[in-house]
Amino acid sequence: MSKLRSYEAYALLIKDVITDDNDLKSDDNKWIWHCIYVAEASRRIAYYLHLDYNYAMSLGYVHDIGRKISHQGHPILGYQYMCRMGYEEEGRSCLTHSFINNDITLTAGEGPKNNSYLFLKHYLDNHPVDIYDNIVQLCDLFCESSGFTTIEKRLLDITKRKGVTDNSHRHYQAVIELKNKIESMLGCDLYSLFPEIKKEDLDSVAIDREELLRLIDSYSSKKKLLQ
Ligand SMILES: [Fe+2]
Repeated sequence: MSKLRSYEAYALLIKDVITDDNDLKSDDNKWIWHCIYVAEASRRIAYYLHLDYNYAMSLGYVHDIGRKISHQGHPILGYQYMCRMGYEEEGRSCLTHSFINNDITLTAGEGPKNNSYLFLKHYLDNHPVDIYDNIVQLCDLFCESSGFTTIEKRLLDITKRKGVTDNSHRHYQAVIELKNKIESMLGCDLYSLFPEIKKEDLDSVAIDREELLRLIDSYSSKKKLLQ
């Protein structure tokens, strides 16, 4: 089957979820807005990297599509949904978006467990990271349902919600390395491509980073005391 075009990916994303404009205002569908922003951010980065920006946009739209079925376990549910629709290739973003460089240990919060872990580990081990995976992984970390923000603010928010784990520090470092890698490919600061980011978010990058690292460090210190 040919590559999923971005307008088709958007249609697939909202299928059976958004039937009129009011559905886009519902709190239950905030995740759709997050996907829309990830799609736009992925398109923009891919465009400036002279990549297939329409394909990058499609991956952004569908990366969380499994939430149509259930928020719990949405990566695998999304991948299975995409396979059923005939788009296995684009379904990879459902499985890879939460794991920096397709490394199952580089995720925010507790990672997958039991059968999900086995499925994801097997898939990720057999699908080496590509630049499109990296773009969606990065965009997922500065796109909220209300628009673009900084990676520092979103990571702090995610860490407060999901908690610190043994892998949080490595995950944070990998995210910053990924941001640096994309910026050196772009030849500019990532945030300069997103003038929509609020000034207050940009002004608080250092403060948010410090708070995030403080949370991670206090977890590590407590753990050492308990050993
Ligand atoms: Fe996401």
